Amino acid sequence: MTAHRRPEYLSTSRYTADPYGVLRDVCDKAPAAQVEVNGFRMWAVTGYDDIRKILANPGMCKDIVEHRKKVVPRSIIRPEYSAKLASESRRSLLDRDGPDHRRLRSQLTGEFSATRLAGLRPSIESTTAALLDRFDPGEETDLIADYALPLATTVLADLLGLPETERGGFPHWQMSMLTGESVSEVEDGANRLHQLALRMIALKRREPGDDLLTRLLRIHDEGGLDADELASTYVVLFIGGSEPATAIGTGLALLLDRPEVVERLLASPELFKDAVEEIVRYESPFKVLPPRFSDEPTVLDGVTIPAGELILTAPSAANRDPDRFDDPDTFDIDRDTRGHLGFGHGPHRCLGAELGRLETEIALRAFLTRFPRTRPTGPLSELAWRPGSFMRRLHSLPVVLG
Ligand code: HEM
Repeated sequence: MTAHRRPEYLSTSRYTADPYGVLRDVCDKAPAAQVEVNGFRMWAVTGYDDIRKILANPGMCKDIVEHRKKVVPRSIIRPEYSAKLASESRRSLLDRDGPDHRRLRSQLTGEFSATRLAGLRPSIESTTAALLDRFDPGEETDLIADYALPLATTVLADLLGLPETERGGFPHWQMSMLTGESVSEVEDGANRLHQLALRMIALKRREPGDDLLTRLLRIHDEGGLDADELASTYVVLFIGGSEPATAIGTGLALLLDRPEVVERLLASPELFKDAVEEIVRYESPFKVLPPRFSDEPTVLDGVTIPAGELILTAPSAANRDPDRFDDPDTFDIDRDTRGHLGFGHGPHRCLGAELGRLETEIALRAFLTRFPRTRPTGPLSELAWRPGSFMRRLHSLPVVLG
């Protein structure tokens, strides 16, 4: 039992550079160990089987706003490190449990159906082509700022129905909220996203369109979700929908470092699908997922996490669990990635996973087809990752196009 050990911080520069090594060290003696995250004590769990069980357990909760009194006082260690996020912006499906979670999720599932996605493909392809038209061989560019981010945010903005005037801010605000350097940057990003949601509610009421935000507003007007739930759902879409940028950026970094893999992909483009899954397994955009808690103790092999404690599951570590994946630290597009946890698992598994896969596949294939001889300006091991406990995102990916 490790209760007497000082909690490890999941926000050090070593964790940012090598989350896998840190998480491995944290849980080297037991399947769960105490860590400090954003001023809270939590229990990190890193084993594949344990994480799957926890994520699928219907008794696990995420609604910290509803259960604040039960959860916060027992887990907060250093309040000055904890960002104060407005309760009214945490009422979406991401932060809810049971019937409320199912109600809010069911209002969105049709938006991500196979038919809807098939309809999006042509516009994703034309957005991608327009971005690539701006590049010239021999030029130096940053593939995060100039390709991955604008692509994912344009696709999302089109889907949501964001007007041109509101497209500039949210990519930066979601980045600040999820990977800000300081508590005030995180709070500022969250506030600005919430303000954007409120502006969009007012706009879509004045000028409804054939878009996702308008459809959700109609469900609200018919009583399907309240005002806080509506604004919070907008915010979660601004955030979740930006995630393909992470997979595209990291994916390009991994592939450009492996010209032999690029060659194979271009010769057999049907392999791009497998490459996308391996990218999301190998460098999971979520190092750890938002915490869960339960009214019951969670019994793992040799450790019992008491009821009411915050539990932090780590898909990044699970996806590199040698008991589940052979030679897990090797990037291998031929491996069987089925069951990886990069898109989560259980009731909160990613709702936009198919869209994320589609965007990433189109983005990688289009870029590598046009610029197959592109070279990173430095070694992959020297690329800087953004700070923060939860997300694994590259700061930038400087390359010479070729
Ligand atoms: C490569 C891209 C993506 C990755 C790796 C990813 C990953 C994830 C993960 C791991 C979760 C689970 C969170 C948890 O269990 O606490 C999640 C949830 C979610 N994602 Fe994604 N995501 C991606 C793309 C998208 C896109 C494009 C959208 C929408 C436009 C989206 C919308 C959502 C939503 C709404 C949830 C909350 C589901 C719920 O709580 O029931 N995601 N995502």
